[in-house]
Amino acid sequence: MTVDDRFTRDFRETDGEEPLGIRNEIVTGPVSDWATDFSHLEPEWVADPYPIQDDLRQRCPIAHTERFGGGWLPTRYEDVAAVAYDTERFSSRSIIMSNFRPPRELAPMGGSPPISSDPPFHHDARKLLLPAFTKTAVAKQEESTRALCHALIDEFRGREVVDAARDYAQHIPMRVIAAMLGFPPEDGPRFREFIENVLEGVNHPPEERMERMQQLFDYLLAQIRDHVDHPRDDLTTYLINAELYGQKLDPSHVAGTMALLLIAGIDTTWSAIGASLWHLAKTPADRARLVAEPGLLPTAMEELLRVYAPVTMARLVKEDMHWHGVDMKADDWVLLSFPAANRDPAQFERADEVVIDREVNRHAAFGLGIHRCVGSHLARMELRIALEVWLERVPEFGLADPEAVTWAAGQVRGPRTLPLIIGR
Ligand code: HEM
Repeated sequence: MTVDDRFTRDFRETDGEEPLGIRNEIVTGPVSDWATDFSHLEPEWVADPYPIQDDLRQRCPIAHTERFGGGWLPTRYEDVAAVAYDTERFSSRSIIMSNFRPPRELAPMGGSPPISSDPPFHHDARKLLLPAFTKTAVAKQEESTRALCHALIDEFRGREVVDAARDYAQHIPMRVIAAMLGFPPEDGPRFREFIENVLEGVNHPPEERMERMQQLFDYLLAQIRDHVDHPRDDLTTYLINAELYGQKLDPSHVAGTMALLLIAGIDTTWSAIGASLWHLAKTPADRARLVAEPGLLPTAMEELLRVYAPVTMARLVKEDMHWHGVDMKADDWVLLSFPAANRDPAQFERADEVVIDREVNRHAAFGLGIHRCVGSHLARMELRIALEVWLERVPEFGLADPEAVTWAAGQVRGPRTLPLIIGR
């Protein structure tokens, strides 16, 4: 049996000191003016953020809010890109905008490396992950992903209406990342709870959020200990044995990266698959064209990723500064809306239309700069297989009830209820 002392005690145990951090009063309720009081958690934004972002781009391209202790929202592609590339002035110490800012001492690693890390540490933490997510490595998951998609559709037999978000989209990335990390496939429902807590529960009081995070880290610690005792060929064992600067990784690095992969790996792709099926369900011409021309799928997928980009990230301002015409204060948030950047008419022709055969498409759905998505090959493989199998098996489908479709609140946007008529 392998004994690894790093994981025998709970790595979160402290010597009794309260973790430092800034906590702000929680403000919710209707927005008075999106230019001066925006909130991505309010129902109007959750239902349809695009008209709000388009209006802001014209009227006030860097909007402000006093909520969450103060934050900014750039909606032009060039401003989003400028923030994403400028790691000197904007930190990734926390990338989820909430009422709590983690202590500055957490930089440069942050709680979930590499997404929460700043240079130079970021580069080394990211490099550790790259081999597991190359095109070749990801291709190994393709056959089992295809078999899973078929098995999920087999379950539709005899049903006229299915929930494409719950019965199909969510299971695909859950099973794939669980297999890569070496977690039991039947733990899927627990992953869903963790994701909702981290990404959607941002307006819960900090104590409650931490309590909920604790459940995630308890789960991860149990998985780590099991892998220490029974090493196997998966990402968890890889991270346990990985070294940086001649030493094994800090336990909080191992667990933080596992949490990142679990959350970034599931919610995002589930959202992208769901939003694509939602679009095809309500746009029969695009659906029919893809069924007739399956070779167009890779091009169409990029356009669906552009228009329905699921991921918005956040940054923290490092020091007080005058930036692109506004006065930012240290520790202000910047909500980095890749979805808004992707619909900027200064960057894309017919920016708010879905042009499924768009040829030139340098979208920002996977981010820009040093934090650009490590899992993009995996995400594209899952999205391609999910749509390919669906269109082959269920070529005719439509929205069962457009009013019944619900969307995730928070920084990852995708359908969470998506009833489709599949006409069987
Ligand atoms: C359609 C699906 C996905 C989308 C749209 C997406 C989007 C993004 C975006 C926008 C970022 C940049 C974050 C930032 O700038 O702060 C990012 C980073 C990241 N993503 Fe994804 N992602 C997807 C799927 C995945 C998958 C399947 C995985 C792996 C399991 C993954 C792992 C990561 C990691 C590890 C990072 C951090 C990279 C770094 O900080 O250097 N993502 N993703």
